[in-house]
Amino acid sequence: MLIKTNSNDFSHALTSEITSQRVYAGRRDLVKLMATGVAGAALASWASREAHAQVAGATPRPGKLTALPGAKSGVAGAITMDKLTEYKDASSYNNFYEFGTDKADPAKNAHTLKTSPWTVEIEGLVKKPAKYALEDLLKLSAQEERIYRLRCVEGWSMVIPWVGYSLSELIKKVEPLSSAKYLEFVTQADPKTMPFVGSRVLDWPYVEGLRMDEAMHPLTLLTFGMYGEVLPNQNGAPVRLVVPWKYGFKSGKSLVKIRFTDKPPATAWNKAAANEYGFFSNVNPEVDHPRWSQATERRIGEDGLFAKKRKTLMFNGYEAQVGQLYAGMDLKKFF
Ligand code: MTE
Repeated sequence: MLIKTNSNDFSHALTSEITSQRVYAGRRDLVKLMATGVAGAALASWASREAHAQVAGATPRPGKLTALPGAKSGVAGAITMDKLTEYKDASSYNNFYEFGTDKADPAKNAHTLKTSPWTVEIEGLVKKPAKYALEDLLKLSAQEERIYRLRCVEGWSMVIPWVGYSLSELIKKVEPLSSAKYLEFVTQADPKTMPFVGSRVLDWPYVEGLRMDEAMHPLTLLTFGMYGEVLPNQNGAPVRLVVPWKYGFKSGKSLVKIRFTDKPPATAWNKAAANEYGFFSNVNPEVDHPRWSQATERRIGEDGLFAKKRKTLMFNGYEAQVGQLYAGMDLKKFF
């Protein structure tokens, strides 16, 4: 709100309007603390919180989990002009079959997932096999915030500010052998903490795979957070993959192992129904799922029951970045 003075024709804002209400309230508290002598520590923590807020840029943090800010990414295609999905939708409408098959199950059940200590093992056709503690994996490269669309094979999509770094950074560190052509991503399968591991829906652990050039593509994100915070358990804490031009199921959650191989790995959904879920699973409005069309999608959060669906874009809108990876391939055959 602007205050107009009566004498001159100029306007000025209240201090509480120049600064956001939240920051303003924080400063007021700080002034109070100064008076009590504990301001030093408070100032340090306030300053670091402000620094986080600045790095995270425009994306407001929900403030429920530990902060994990990332600098805005320079990777082409990482920023979309789409409106962000609300955090509450992105963290309550999930697929994570280890915690149940209903979209609401993961948010309800995934609190049992034990995310610390956590290690990710690198094995197979690499010069430097390794076991990374999560803390070391986090430090391997600078965290970036990347806004990506995630399009689920079931026909819905979200737009999420993910935090992580290109998987290629890790791949380069472990030095793949020239015989390594594929990567197999193995995810956590612990029946003690994941109530649906053992159910017959899938052959556990949930495994996914990428061709080496797909894994090396800068858009492929090793992901530790979203909305400026560490990942909620239901979104695949503490570390997952996000491959934005492929159907969501290619983005394995709660990764524990990455194996470099010379053959395409047997993936969970391909093993469950090979005629429905191919190895590539690139988002493609022209190739239908055998049981439904893939031409349109519903954006979670902006849909009343009667809202118009959106047209699904080739490679989920990332064709300029990834199209050349599939030049000359028959995408109907290699779906
Ligand atoms: N990873 C594991 N381990 N288990 C799963 O069931 N579901 C996949 C993928 N990764 C899944 C998984 C599917 S089908 C989708 S659409 C995305 O995760 C959903 O990610 P989100 O819940 O963060 O939106």
